[in-house]
Amino acid sequence: MHVHRQERIWMAFGLAMLVIFLAVITTAAVVDGFVPPSRVQSIDPTRVSQTPPFDHPGLRKVAPGAYEAYYVARIFSFTPASIEVPAGSRVTFYVTSADVEHGFSIPETGVNAMVTPGWVSSVSHTFKQPGTFLLVCNEYCGSGHHFMAAKVTVK
Ligand code: CUA
Repeated sequence: MHVHRQERIWMAFGLAMLVIFLAVITTAAVVDGFVPPSRVQSIDPTRVSQTPPFDHPGLRKVAPGAYEAYYVARIFSFTPASIEVPAGSRVTFYVTSADVEHGFSIPETGVNAMVTPGWVSSVSHTFKQPGTFLLVCNEYCGSGHHFMAAKVTVK
């Protein structure tokens, strides 16, 4: 079979790009150690409900205007399902998964984190305006994925 010279050049180019991309991805994964970007610590995913503070998920006031919110994601819900903070509050969210990969996103804000079993992810946001914010799972996690949501109320 005759392969045209220009076709051979393009095939070699495509193959070279593939090798380069795979090498870059592999190197990055090994150097970063395959961890989710917003993780702050590891956790035993089989013992989430026995591991403080995730044995009692919910909102904690840590200072005037500053809160920490501990969430457990599992198919197909977030615990707590609803929190309420005063306007102007800075909330630091800590989220972990008790089962599979989930997402943690409040679309109108910058809050967006991967929730990976075995890791605690953290993201902070200052809620300046009052309102009701929908917190959604934005990583496909199964048949009930599109029902997986919670509520953040800012008063
Ligand atoms: Cu949890 Cu999608």
